[in-house]
Amino acid sequence: MMKEKKVPTAVIQRMPRYYRYLGDLLERGIARVSSAQLSRRMGITASQIRQDLNHFGGFGQQGYGYNVEVLYNEIGRILGQDQEYSVIVIGAGNLGQAVSKYTNFNKRGYKVTALFDSNPALAGTTVAGYPVFDARELPDYLKENHTDIAVLTIPKAGAAETAKILTDGGVQAIWNFASIDLDLPDDKAVVVNVHLSDSLRVLSYKLRELRSEENPEED
Ligand code: NAI
Repeated sequence: MMKEKKVPTAVIQRMPRYYRYLGDLLERGIARVSSAQLSRRMGITASQIRQDLNHFGGFGQQGYGYNVEVLYNEIGRILGQDQEYSVIVIGAGNLGQAVSKYTNFNKRGYKVTALFDSNPALAGTTVAGYPVFDARELPDYLKENHTDIAVLTIPKAGAAETAKILTDGGVQAIWNFASIDLDLPDDKAVVVNVHLSDSLRVLSYKLRELRSEENPEED
């Protein structure tokens, strides 16, 4: 695959949002959009939007704006949305089940194939129609089933060990919900950590701020 120019992480992190907004416009049959309109809808300055989108070839045209469909497809391609991914979920507890049951991931090309759990009582059951296997079967499973992405929804105690089994088995991407920083070989695997509690704390920070603006004397 041809190496693309490295795009700054901050830009990449805004991409899924652009993708969502553009998808929304497409659904509403809107064919083009200016950076000013996107700016109003998204609360990002127009110049930031132009700068961001320039990383992807600058598809905007003076006086026309952006072709929504072209931009949507291009951002989708950059985000890897033009492919399907086989996904396994490690840890078939509350969170693992919730992720597996969320059918929109499936629609977007992330195809769950199986779950794994260290609790033998769960082996042989199904979650949303997907089989749950004993975690000890993971190395063999990976030998026989090409797997793109593993979702780690287990406590942090077993996370590092499991990540090693996954990368040794050829899994190159881990969506990590365990509250531990995984040390993966850079050239072999990528990881994105998800901390729902971080975003919840940002919410309570904002709530505190809002309330102190309402009642300044209390702060
Ligand atoms: P849970 O207790 O319902 O499920 C955990 C499952 O993992 C259990 O079925 C257990 O048998 C299994 N398990 C434990 N060690 C394993 C291993 N080494 N290999 C395979 N399976 C293993 O817990 P829940 O609510 O699903 O949460 C899972 C983890 O995710 C917890 O550690 C929790 O702290 C974390 N979490 C993280 C969030 C985030 O935003 N990052 C949000 C919620 C939970």
